[in-house]
Amino acid sequence: MIQLTEAATLTVQDGIGIISINNPPVNALGYPVRKGIADGIDQAVKDSQVKAIVIICEGRTFCAGADIREFGQPPKEPGLGEVLEILDASPKPTIAAIHGTAFGGGLETALSCHFRIGVPTAQFGLPEVKLGLLPGAGGTQRLPRVVGPEKALQMIAIGDPIGATEALAVGLIDEIVDGDLKAAAIAFAGKVLAENRPLVKVSANNQKVEAARGKSEIFDTFRKSIARKARGFVAPENCIKAVEGSVNLPFKEGLKRERELFMELMNGHQSAAQRYAFFAERQVSKIPDIPKDTPQLDVKKVGIIGAGTMGGGIAMNFVNAGYTVTLVETKQDFLDRGLGVIRKNYEITASKGKMTTADVEKRMSLITGTLSLEDLADVDLVIEAVFEDMPLKKEIFGKLDRICKKDAILATNTSYLDVNEIAAVTGRPEFVLGLHFFSPANVMRLLEIVRGAKTSKTVLATALTIGKKIKKVAVVVGVCHGFAGNRMFSQRKNEMDQVILEGASPEQVDKVVYDFGFPMGPFVLSDLIGLDLGWKKETSSSSSVRDILCESGRMGQKNGRGYYLYEAGNRAPIPDPEVKQMIDDFAAKQGYKKRAVSDDEIVKRCVYPLINEGAKILEEGIAVRPSDLDIIWINGYGWPVYLGGPMFYADLIGLDKVLATLKEYEAKLGSHWKPAALIEKLVSEGKGFKDLN
Ligand code: 3HC
Ligand code: NAI
Repeated sequence: MIQLTEAATLTVQDGIGIISINNPPVNALGYPVRKGIADGIDQAVKDSQVKAIVIICEGRTFCAGADIREFGQPPKEPGLGEVLEILDASPKPTIAAIHGTAFGGGLETALSCHFRIGVPTAQFGLPEVKLGLLPGAGGTQRLPRVVGPEKALQMIAIGDPIGATEALAVGLIDEIVDGDLKAAAIAFAGKVLAENRPLVKVSANNQKVEAARGKSEIFDTFRKSIARKARGFVAPENCIKAVEGSVNLPFKEGLKRERELFMELMNGHQSAAQRYAFFAERQVSKIPDIPKDTPQLDVKKVGIIGAGTMGGGIAMNFVNAGYTVTLVETKQDFLDRGLGVIRKNYEITASKGKMTTADVEKRMSLITGTLSLEDLADVDLVIEAVFEDMPLKKEIFGKLDRICKKDAILATNTSYLDVNEIAAVTGRPEFVLGLHFFSPANVMRLLEIVRGAKTSKTVLATALTIGKKIKKVAVVVGVCHGFAGNRMFSQRKNEMDQVILEGASPEQVDKVVYDFGFPMGPFVLSDLIGLDLGWKKETSSSSSVRDILCESGRMGQKNGRGYYLYEAGNRAPIPDPEVKQMIDDFAAKQGYKKRAVSDDEIVKRCVYPLINEGAKILEEGIAVRPSDLDIIWINGYGWPVYLGGPMFYADLIGLDKVLATLKEYEAKLGSHWKPAALIEKLVSEGKGFKDLN
């Protein structure tokens, strides 16, 4: 065995040179891997004993791509492109033996081999677009030559991987192999040699791209099909242009085009934001005082109290992950309705072909409905999702403390209430915490884990594991009104309510916020949620625009009238002059003088309160790090990932500039704009939020 580099070896077995890569955790193509492949090919080609070469990886996966951590650093030769040229030019057959995920540069490496084989569970993808990039080592030129431009567009500009069966069907791999991969690769190499198979050099394989030449409709149709999803992102368009290059240019020219388009993305702020978000998402589960080896509880059975909007969705998360769920309601009607909604959701999924009717029944069979809290005696975890009412929650937690086994975790899904106050009614506050899901709970990826003053490390570590099992992005936050996400959201909402009194219209605000990259503006969102959520007719005092709208029976989309009008069966908001008048009258009564509010001011007044409140949250230790807040906003509130999150965005603009605007608004609009001490401190030290991550 020859140790090529610290991450690669070459062994010769039965006339087959085996380049084996070992660069945990995901065999990313960092320098030692690139150099290892280059040297391995060189030596294997020179070695007369070697008749064919296999590239295989140790550990959990084939190469999962370029080493993202090297991006932005000075390049170290050989670059991946150079290594792949060496592979491409190999006069001896090369075979990529794939398990796990051949992603990004990993798949590009495999595409530069003459043959590819994979285990049945292997996944193949070019997910660079999700990092705001495109495959920059020939992937946009080679993949269309193998699978055709249409399929390549989907894999490159959307970035979703395909499994082994599909890979075989589209010609991306030559064989699916069972059993020991190395032995199968050696056997496959033997077959290639025995049959004297011609070497398939993808770069010279022009049939499929030539067939698409002149057919610009392929690209037009694809552009249209992703327009909604790709709104605001620059990478998908560059991906499409690169694939167009594969069709219209010779291979070498296509590579050049790919490089230009890649560098454009690499130097832009969107990819920087998306790469930051990739690592930030993996950082959230690392809590400084909760080491990896913290003991955990075994959770199998889950109890959920309340089968309303949240309880039902929460139950689905657990059932989807294979947990058994006991769902508690107060009345049979409510229970039936809740279970009915869950069933309907699954049936809709089944009708789209994403699960079978047997799966629907299997999932439903994991849920047992009951009207008795006593049935939670043997569950390992309870999540309470009843009305947002402190006395009710306290009453329930008091009962749970008596009913549930002594090491059961008791969680509340409260949006705003004090988790410590709830924990205090139990004799086991160390087992109490908040598990704050976002609506719709079965869809939204965010989960805030609210750490109470007395929550034990074991309980917190267990909650983090559960978060992963139910496929959420779980962010640990502390106790305060609204925790991290809603506390920041409330500040934005107050400011947007104010801005329409000063003269901006709801349509103007909604358009600006939508154009910024959010899925919808604040007033369309209010109409969608329902203006009467948390509003009571008896106590309403005409003291806000919302009060006035609700008092006049405008509840939002649900009754066709809110900040906007809605036609039956149509969600498109129609501006209503009557609402405009109501806002103007209210504003005049409050003493506002109408003025034109610029779009730029709306953006600042929408985003800067998030930054300022986020800084206060960090000061108070409610969140662990700025990037956690960004992950909350990306996954819970639709912040555009290409802008990295509010705290990343603050650094992008320049924290000193943000501070200057906060001060300007404090003088003009009031003390609620007073800059957080943390922002003042960071600016005075010439630092940004990034320095706290
Ligand atoms: N570079 C550097 N580190 C990487 C990495 C990469 N490409 N991919 C994953 N990692 C790291 C993660 O940060 C994490 O580190 P940590 O343990 O310190 O937090 C560790 O590897 C494990 O990753 P996950 O927690 O994500 O593990 P999973 O098993 O859940 O997922 C995966 C594995 C599917 C490979 C997933 O990590 C993934 O999707 N990675 C990114 C793949 C990708 O985008 N590849 C393209 C890279 S760009 C490229 O190749 C450009 C080329 O065209 C020139
Ligand atoms: P909901 O009103 O839709 O559902 C509450 C359910 O709890 C009702 O079905 C009710 O019958 C049931 N219930 C009331 N008392 C009960 C009791 N003693 N035992 C068993 N069941 C009982 O309310 P929703 O929206 O699901 O909210 C639940 C909790 O989740 C609240 O604390 C809320 O603040 C929080 N939350 C709500 C979000 C939302 O967007 N709706 C988002 C995140 C959290």
